[in-house]
Amino acid sequence: MHNEHSDAHFQLRIDNGEHIEAKDYMPDAYRKHLIRQMSQHAHSEVIGMQPEGNWITRAPSLRAKQILLAKIQDEGGHGLYLYSAAETLGVSRVEFIEQLQSGKAKYSSIFNYPSLNWADIGAIGWLVDGAAIVNQVSLQRTSYGPYSRAMVRICKEESFHQRQGYEIMAKMMKGTKDQQAMAQDAMNRWWWPSLMMFGPHDTDSPNSSNAVKWKIKRETNDELRQKFIDKTIPQAELIGLTVPDKNFKLDEKTGHYKISEINWDEFHRVIEGHGPCNKQRLDHHIKYHQEGEWVREAALAYKQKHLKKELQTV
Ligand code: 3HC
Repeated sequence: MHNEHSDAHFQLRIDNGEHIEAKDYMPDAYRKHLIRQMSQHAHSEVIGMQPEGNWITRAPSLRAKQILLAKIQDEGGHGLYLYSAAETLGVSRVEFIEQLQSGKAKYSSIFNYPSLNWADIGAIGWLVDGAAIVNQVSLQRTSYGPYSRAMVRICKEESFHQRQGYEIMAKMMKGTKDQQAMAQDAMNRWWWPSLMMFGPHDTDSPNSSNAVKWKIKRETNDELRQKFIDKTIPQAELIGLTVPDKNFKLDEKTGHYKISEINWDEFHRVIEGHGPCNKQRLDHHIKYHQEGEWVREAALAYKQKHLKKELQTV
């Protein structure tokens, strides 16, 4: 019988499909892996608010503005759930923000691309949130309890994000020639970076073997990417968009689409900080984080005052 506070007992629990909770025994490497992935996931949600926030004041209708506002607010909330879930592993929010702002921590490469016009808001919702859904639905079954529960909550909101994006693209494809060209141009620019969201090929993924062993990942990068491709190509063709890959073809035997090779040089360039918007995204985050200092101070002062009052009445 294994001692409850041992790696062997931990792995047995993982193999039995149990949730690991914050106070349970876990190997340091499992904790570190989760801190890295969960905090970077949270950073991605918050940085992802920037490209879409760019279009709130220029939304083409009040309805479109309301939908975009609701979506961006959701993303902020997703960041909150994920930072809170990551903090259960013993790292503070302040440290996470410092890691992001100093460039030590990553966030999803996809948010380092510019949102050039309204069709980009459609492509982001449809492709970026569509890719995030495939990844996050799988992550609902992750072995760490707080992360799994955060994912269940987040997935409830993601499908609305994807639908509103697809609706924008479908509307534009029924529009004027110029609108159709805008939608196709957005598809051309967001398709490949969306595929990069799933990470490198499994054979080039240094974290995947542990992630699979510890059931942090229930499916691999390539498995999830393939799921997204198989789901999305028919959606594109349904509304008349052309997939920007002259070699893609459906393998009738497997039912999967084969695509050209992803540009991994671009992927590495962007995740190493040299994408089109990396500097702009971090500068923006630092500027508004500093300007928001007074809000955090006021919230803390309020909490301390009311905590003291509560303690006096006990
Ligand atoms: N962008 C930035 N970094 C990436 C990346 C990407 N698209 N894909 C991989 N990387 C990084 C990894 O973080 C890792 O670097 P690190 O060790 O310094 O952290 C390195 O590249 C090697 O990749 P691995 O496959 O070995 O790393 P993981 O096992 O962590 O897999 C992942 C990468 C699939 C992104 C995984 O971390 C994951 O599933 N994360 C949770 C989901 C997530 O973060 N999604 C980001 C988008 S959130 C979003 O879109 C919100 C929506 O509402 C819009």
